[in-house]
Amino acid sequence: SERTYIMVKPDGVERGLVGNILTRFEQKGYKLCALQMMQPSKSLLEEHYKDLNTRPFFPRLIKYMSSAPVVGMVWSGKNAVKTGRKILGATNPLDSEPGTIRGDYCIDVSQNLCHGSDSVESAEREISLWFPAGVCDYQRRYDSFIYE
Ligand code: GTP
Ligand code: MG
Repeated sequence: SERTYIMVKPDGVERGLVGNILTRFEQKGYKLCALQMMQPSKSLLEEHYKDLNTRPFFPRLIKYMSSAPVVGMVWSGKNAVKTGRKILGATNPLDSEPGTIRGDYCIDVSQNLCHGSDSVESAEREISLWFPAGVCDYQRRYDSFIYE
């Protein structure tokens, strides 16, 4: 089934929002397939954000993201990518609705707490990049209460 890569950025870890962010995905019904805390290297982040490497904020983004540990997770389930982005809220907290993670907890676009894959293709690319050894695959009986 569809998978997405969600990452709590250094500001989210520092502010103690890991549990909150994880819980929103868990309670929605998505299945946790991988969870990892690490301080990423600049080269890993440059690969992760390669589509943005011509943007003026790119150097600052890499510096911020490599400054402290992040918590990465893989969630699987129906429409995980699109719904995951909805749970995070719009990139710029000025536009993110209350009830979303960014809408509820942050103010500045450069410190927007979390990352979520923007398409099924980028999700699969990011999952291989962050979890080269693979992730877990398992069945949940609980899914019969979530899906018809
Ligand atoms: P991610 O889930 O983090 O990938 O965010 P996104 O997909 O909603 O946005 P995008 O991939 O375009 O940008 C990646 C990250 O770069 C954003 O989450 C922001 O932290 C940062 N960013 C994007 N646009 C700006 C900007 O205009 N200024 C600054 N300072 N940072 C930005
Ligand atoms: Mg993005």
